Amino acid sequence: MCGIFGYANYGVGQPIQAILDTLFDGLQRLEYRGYDSAGVCVDAPAGEPGARCPLVIKHQGKISDLRVRAAEVLEENTLFAGELYSTHVGIGHTRWATHGPPNATNSHPHVNGPDGEFVVVHNGIITNHATLKPFLAKNGAVFVSDTDTEVVPHLCEYLWKKRGGKVSLGQLAMEVCSRLEGAYALLIRSARYPNELVACKQGSPLVYGLKRRDPAAANGATNGDATGRDQGGAVSSASRLSASLLGAGGAGTEFWLASDSAALLTHTRDVVVLEDGDLLHVDAYGRPHVFNSLAMTSRTLAKADMADLEVKREGRKIEAEVESIMKGGYDHYMQKEIHEQPKTLADTMRGRVVLDGKPFKPVKSSAPDVIFSGHFIDPCESASLFSGSNIAAASGAEGGFELPSRIGGKKARAKEPTPAGALFSGALLGAAAAATAAPDKAAAPASAGFMEEGIPAAGESEPFIKLGGLSDHVEGILRCRRIVFIACGTSYHACLVARKTLEEFAAMPVVVELAGDFMDREAPVFRDDTCVFVSQSGETADTLRALEYAKAKGALCVGITNTVGSAISNATHCGVHLNAGFEIGVASTKAYTSQIVALTMMALLLGADSRAKMPKRIAAMRALARLPDDAREVLELDASMHKLAEQLKDAQSLIFFGRGYNFSTALEAALKVKEVALIHSEGINAGEMKHGPLALVDENLPIVVIATQDAMHRKMESVIQQLLARSAKLVILCNTGDDAMTQFEGRGCTLIRVPRTVDALQPIINIIPLQLLSYHLTTLRGFNVDQPRNLAKSVTVTED
Ligand code: F6R
Repeated sequence: MCGIFGYANYGVGQPIQAILDTLFDGLQRLEYRGYDSAGVCVDAPAGEPGARCPLVIKHQGKISDLRVRAAEVLEENTLFAGELYSTHVGIGHTRWATHGPPNATNSHPHVNGPDGEFVVVHNGIITNHATLKPFLAKNGAVFVSDTDTEVVPHLCEYLWKKRGGKVSLGQLAMEVCSRLEGAYALLIRSARYPNELVACKQGSPLVYGLKRRDPAAANGATNGDATGRDQGGAVSSASRLSASLLGAGGAGTEFWLASDSAALLTHTRDVVVLEDGDLLHVDAYGRPHVFNSLAMTSRTLAKADMADLEVKREGRKIEAEVESIMKGGYDHYMQKEIHEQPKTLADTMRGRVVLDGKPFKPVKSSAPDVIFSGHFIDPCESASLFSGSNIAAASGAEGGFELPSRIGGKKARAKEPTPAGALFSGALLGAAAAATAAPDKAAAPASAGFMEEGIPAAGESEPFIKLGGLSDHVEGILRCRRIVFIACGTSYHACLVARKTLEEFAAMPVVVELAGDFMDREAPVFRDDTCVFVSQSGETADTLRALEYAKAKGALCVGITNTVGSAISNATHCGVHLNAGFEIGVASTKAYTSQIVALTMMALLLGADSRAKMPKRIAAMRALARLPDDAREVLELDASMHKLAEQLKDAQSLIFFGRGYNFSTALEAALKVKEVALIHSEGINAGEMKHGPLALVDENLPIVVIATQDAMHRKMESVIQQLLARSAKLVILCNTGDDAMTQFEGRGCTLIRVPRTVDALQPIINIIPLQLLSYHLTTLRGFNVDQPRNLAKSVTVTED
């Protein structure tokens, strides 16, 4: 959805073109979120020496169009020539239309009037805009757009006047926020407060980073006063201090602010993730202060002393490499992300799948990080995108949550302070985690059953799963009445796989819910439920709303997300991060397979006490270890999938049949095809075939049947026979070496052969060629792969 990017330089001389380039590059890093228009606000020379006025440039369409528009503006205004901005605040925005159509007027930034006393960019929704608008209009505000956002600059101006101008920008913005309802991340700059910047967050993500140049060198550039007219030269980038000075600021400092840390990565790795209620105020000298007003009302706020509201926010280090946000030789992000899966699957398992028994032979060695021989790689190194440095601080904020205690099956409650490591960090795994997850060796001597192939004999240590983010809650989850998985889209499909895995390995009752539908029904949730929220972005509004709802009902809330510091990872009691790296293509690919891996590990962990299931569990862990290699093997089908896409690219419709574990594969493949290739597509449970869908079958409709050798194999073979009896045009996805399927080749079917793995993991292997198929269908049909029409990467608004 919308993206925000800001850049402020204090005593660091920059020509306007460099400032604009920084803003445009930052916005381009946020393009993946989805947008239909964009805009920026910078200072323009106002004629008098040193005088500046805000210049807003907005455009419907791509950022490349906005760049062209900005170049025209610069060319038209000769005053820009040779101008060096020692101190400057620039803000930018990508808009995904919700209130009003995509056009330049509705694009951000929004201003309170032609003089732009207050200029605002916003991500989220101001739900009380309809109440504020008439009130502000009655007080002189003139609205020009259809947006909810426009109330914000008008409210700034209204309150500023009401306070007779005797208010700091930080205090003013806090008062404005106290009157807003909904979700927002805001950047506010103001001609009334030259060179100051405010960033506020409530419900929508916002991060900032800063870097300070060598003070000595910066001094040369800061002869300009706080109001910003440059009198010195620019500082060369060579004089930059690499050390981060978060919290310092002042002369020689640059700030970058964005909706997503990926947009900051080329500038700095040291970021602060703002929390709900936070307000960052950078004063005219480049000094940052963070305040939090969550506990205040608009009434108490008016009398509050800002100093009392100041809070300390720790910096985090972005561990990801700059390459992770580049296409790395691929044509598209989606293509890169599909091909990255051998690595991302390994990253999700790194330090979490512990294989130590002798029967395990290291596979091909292409995924050495997953195959351990009796030692752990400390997950601190990789378990989160950020170092765990401020997880403790975050956990402090959540430490008072009451967690359900299910001792003896009774609904007792205990105050369990969430320990630092338990708040969603694979980062703080300790011996305790291993102890929880590992089967109790003393209590479980090797029995006859353990002599099966692959099962460690007495004395050999058993493999186990180690999920530090869950370790303190395993007991609680095991005692719960049921597990409720809640998610949207692709993440929901991963939950469908998890339902079967939990049933199979942990024999637990599981319900899977679409977050939106769950909230529409206001489905019953009990305090002895465990609710698991699965979300790549960690920001999906429907999932977040369901999380708030379940938390209010007293359920234990577990998060599975790919985004450290996201709303869902912050708001859940515990959870697992995917560690799959930034996913930039709008269509989720690598996050989906990592979600299945994370959920499988969770099921194996929860089932660790069952001795009867141990052979199965060990087979699954061995299969997990082989998974990166299996994924690598299946990616070799790329050329065949391209060929198949050439045959199918003109199809009107494409059907996927699957059942059991692979019902999810059918749904996910159909979603990929419809969202990027823009072909009507349906995933159908093959068990339902005779209850309606069979009527569609003829010699024209292409059908992909997922018939790998899992528990559904025989049934799927029968499905194929029935479809062929109706002259269906079939593509069969089956396992290498499955002779039963060879017969169909002679009957006009196309076979896709994939490596065999355990049933629970087969959906991971099966989806990869279908991801490739949807990718190639899209490029062959000439559509935008990474930003499909009408779609946004993180859906941060709900329908109401
Ligand atoms: C499809 C896709 C979406 C998301 C859905 C939930 O490729 O990406 O269906 O899965 O919008 O998003 P997250 O997982 O971020 O909650």
